Amino acid sequence: MLTVEDLRVYFHVKRGLMGRRSYDVRAVDGVSFGLAHGQTLGLVGESGSGKSTIGRALLRLVGIHSGTIQLNGTDVRELRGRMLDFRRDLQAIFQDPYSLLNPSMIVADIVGEPLTIHYGLKGRQRDERVAQLLDQVGLATYHMERYPSEFSGGQRQRIAVARAIALEPQIIICDEAISALDVSTQSQVINLLKELQERLGLAYLFIAHDLAVVRHISDQIAVLYLGRIMEMGPAELICSAPRHPYTQLLISAIPVADPIEQKKRKAARSQLPPSELPSATNPPDGCPFHTRCPQAVSRCRNEVPLPRQVRPGEIVACHLID
Ligand SMILES: Nc1ncnc2c1ncn2[C@@H]1O[C@H](COP(=O)(O)OP(=O)(O)OP(=O)(O)O)[C@@H](O)[C@H]1O
Ligand SMILES: [Mg+2]
Repeated sequence: MLTVEDLRVYFHVKRGLMGRRSYDVRAVDGVSFGLAHGQTLGLVGESGSGKSTIGRALLRLVGIHSGTIQLNGTDVRELRGRMLDFRRDLQAIFQDPYSLLNPSMIVADIVGEPLTIHYGLKGRQRDERVAQLLDQVGLATYHMERYPSEFSGGQRQRIAVARAIALEPQIIICDEAISALDVSTQSQVINLLKELQERLGLAYLFIAHDLAVVRHISDQIAVLYLGRIMEMGPAELICSAPRHPYTQLLISAIPVADPIEQKKRKAARSQLPPSELPSATNPPDGCPFHTRCPQAVSRCRNEVPLPRQVRPGEIVACHLID
């Protein structure tokens, strides 16, 4: 349904007096993936790895440097007259719905707005559909007259979900949609998203920095590092037997209940050089992860590893997988 091929998004940043110094940030640097009907692709990676930029490129909120994005076989840059259809098919939910939900609007108007814009629904007709949508996300109808400030974080996220599904989209981009919620509210919202997925046949691009969150909802997972996919494949496989050293690092950072396993993971983590994500303005040569990789060899410093298939449906970009 959604096909992204060799996507690159560069930001040109100007600094200094009259912008005399300038440089490029390669936020997304050659990313390819597909998303099928009714499926969830989890996108994980540290802060600054380019996750949101991919989502924003899909939503056409940032321009792309090169590559293609196709929705149902149509290149999104050639939509022209069908822009409104595209806007309907692709919806998004963000981390902090509070900043997006207009505080001076009641819920009926917030959820009903897209219905008015796209279908011209008004008055009773619109309110009936809004009540239906609120019911689908587990909110009672009497909430319609209330303002966003009168809700809890989890409830506000449900309002955002109701608005996102109002136009029966094919895909919802969830960018850190549950990251700000406490753990029990997180699992409630995840369950709601799964339920809606089954009922409405939705596909999700589920973005989060926390692999522990992503694994519970994803069919496929893509691990991003400095704007490139390091490993991508079935969620089960990625979490139970990661092949890329970076994915192994992310997995080892997930807390587990078993004290022996926890100790093993701590030991694995302690072998790593204590460095942070290099900057996307000045990425390392060769494999972008080599500066932090405990297994790096000289080839990793000079040559960019290309993604290749290692197991059915799984690709890894690493020289060590030989
Ligand atoms: N408008 C912009 N102008 C310049 N640089 C940008 C812009 N937007 C993003 N970047 C840079 O692009 C890179 C990727 O940013 P992005 O927001 O996609 O990361 P992210 O993975 O979503 O991080 P987080 O987990 O913190 O949300 C970062 O280095 C960031 O500084
Ligand atoms: Mg982000």
